Amino acid sequence: MSIIRGPLRHSATLSALKATEFRVYRSSKGKTRMDTFIMERNGMGPMVLDGLIHIKNNMDGTLGFRRSCREGICGSCAMNINGKNTLACLCPIEDNMVIYPLPHMPIIRDLIPDMTNFYKQYSEIKPWLRNSNKKGVENHQTIEERNKLDGMYECILCACCSTSCPSYWWNSDQYLGPAVLMQAYRWIEDSRDEDTRARMEQLDDAMKLYRCKTIMNCSNTCPKGLNPGKAIGELKKRIDEELH
Ligand code: SF4
Ligand code: F3S
Ligand code: FES
Repeated sequence: MSIIRGPLRHSATLSALKATEFRVYRSSKGKTRMDTFIMERNGMGPMVLDGLIHIKNNMDGTLGFRRSCREGICGSCAMNINGKNTLACLCPIEDNMVIYPLPHMPIIRDLIPDMTNFYKQYSEIKPWLRNSNKKGVENHQTIEERNKLDGMYECILCACCSTSCPSYWWNSDQYLGPAVLMQAYRWIEDSRDEDTRARMEQLDDAMKLYRCKTIMNCSNTCPKGLNPGKAIGELKKRIDEELH
């Protein structure tokens, strides 16, 4: 696969040559820049992640990005592509691609954000079944009870939603953000869990939960088609009905 060199910026030219132009954010040791890579699309996979892997293997081995599953399951390839937070492995290549890391996150290198705070917030909600049942005893659910988890359990914790939320941009030190709040609600809605009230009391806070101002960027950007904004609305309603 050859590299096409030269300033081919126009979509028509790139299309005619069956080429694509990637403009990629680079960051290392406090210095940032945009790098441009022009590649033939012939023989290359169809997704942005395929293009990034092609760059790393053939053009610049120092390019940093995360990936694992290449099929929208692990959540590790989340980045901002042509202005939208999404998964590089689910995003088709177009003529011109502009690629940044997830916004408003500390950057470790290039397209790799530091997820430490995000995971710390996730661990704070204790995202596991809290139930005093003895070992070996099954926790039954009705079909209706199980159905309540649909649309929430599928979250892959990619953080596309949280990093698209202005409230999270400005207050991520205290506001939990849509990804973590939807997972908190997922356990509150789980009929098998016994700590429902304690979970709600933990969230009933002006910063942790009520910094959500229903902006809905989160639901618009989720690459898995989930609706964390709606889940937060239902969570607020349930807390209001049961605690206030
Ligand atoms: Fe990613 Fe969607 Fe889960 Fe948010 S709700 S973390 S965007 S999968
Ligand atoms: Fe943010 Fe979504 Fe609420 S974008 S303000 S978490 S509805
Ligand atoms: Fe796993 Fe993209 S590589 S979601």
